[in-house]
Amino acid sequence: MSTINVAITGVGNVTKTLIKGLHFYKNSTEGLWHPKIAGFTVNDIAVNGVYDVDSSKVGKKIKDVITDYKTDSDLPIQAGISDDIINIPNSQVKSVKYNEFVESLKKIKTDFLVNLISSGMEKSSESYAKAALEAGCSFFNATSSKTITPQLKSSFESKGLMILGDDLMSQFGGTAFHRGMMEFMVNRGITIHKAYQLDVGGNADTQNTMAEQLREKKRKIKTESISVEVPYPFRSTAGTTEYASQLGNSRVSYYWMEAKGFLGAPIEMDLSLRTSDSSNGCNVILDAIRAAKFAISKKDITKSDIISAYAFKNPLKKTKIRESIKAFEEAFVN
Ligand SMILES: NC(=O)c1ccc[n+]([C@@H]2O[C@H](COP(=O)([O-])OP(=O)(O)OC[C@H]3O[C@@H](n4cnc5c(N)ncnc54)[C@H](O)[C@@H]3O)[C@@H](O)[C@H]2O)c1
Repeated sequence: MSTINVAITGVGNVTKTLIKGLHFYKNSTEGLWHPKIAGFTVNDIAVNGVYDVDSSKVGKKIKDVITDYKTDSDLPIQAGISDDIINIPNSQVKSVKYNEFVESLKKIKTDFLVNLISSGMEKSSESYAKAALEAGCSFFNATSSKTITPQLKSSFESKGLMILGDDLMSQFGGTAFHRGMMEFMVNRGITIHKAYQLDVGGNADTQNTMAEQLREKKRKIKTESISVEVPYPFRSTAGTTEYASQLGNSRVSYYWMEAKGFLGAPIEMDLSLRTSDSSNGCNVILDAIRAAKFAISKKDITKSDIISAYAFKNPLKKTKIRESIKAFEEAFVN
């Protein structure tokens, strides 16, 4: 199989975990959701470019910023684009102009640009999507910034490329688990009346999400994503509620649901789920990249709808979680 080259913008928790995973899975498959996708293993993926705008990271090598795991990666972190106001604690912004970034992407001849920058960087995410299109690589937007529009999608498709997004849906995170529970209740004939999901996290991304406007936007995406599973309106709220540094890279989702069964018998559910945020995103990223590489090589670009429905909370075409996994596995898992 040919190598799938991936460049990444944003060298934060998820990127570091992804790179650690690529090293770890050279000798194991334990913990991989799909060891093989369309004939590709995780070993067929290579990271060939990384970009950030934090001056304390730019210029360093990957092996120097991943301090809790031994990697041998000499890949240097290059400066990316900074089109938003960003406050980096105890550091400064180091960026390049749009054209310089496009040239840098062209030079490394990558298949994908995976956008893993901080939440709320709307303009930078949009610039990265346009830069990918100009440089001739596909784009994967893990952030909640709205980058995919029908127009941009057709521009990518006209070049034989894909744009995938928006807002990564973790493998077993707050949203996926909530959707799974809802789907099960609806399928068992239970009527859901009220529900909420309150997320508390301790990493930099949760801290960024605390800005009121961004918190509201993410709440809207999560609430709409969950409502796909229920064919009638009900009172629902889902969102990131609090930052608690003592949680570190983990996230706790608190769920509560009120529903009714036969003769209106009440059903109440109250539970919590604790997961590791960055690890929870990586299987989905690795699956989507391998599937997209395969579909692109077969000139089957319209499969991007299947990949986006599987991997993201806010795709252009939303489908129920069970249907999205089934469609993805039928198309790509062998
Ligand atoms: N399971 C998950 O972790 C998950 C799920 C859904 C979405 N996401 C999204 O993935 C993204 C990455 O998450 P994370 O936890 O790694 O975040 P993080 O805050 O740990 O890292 C973000 C990195 O992006 C860098 N950055 C900011 N602006 C940039 C720019 N313009 N260009 C290049 N780099 C820039 C920051 O300096 C930082 O190093 C976030 O937007 C998050 O919301 C993550």
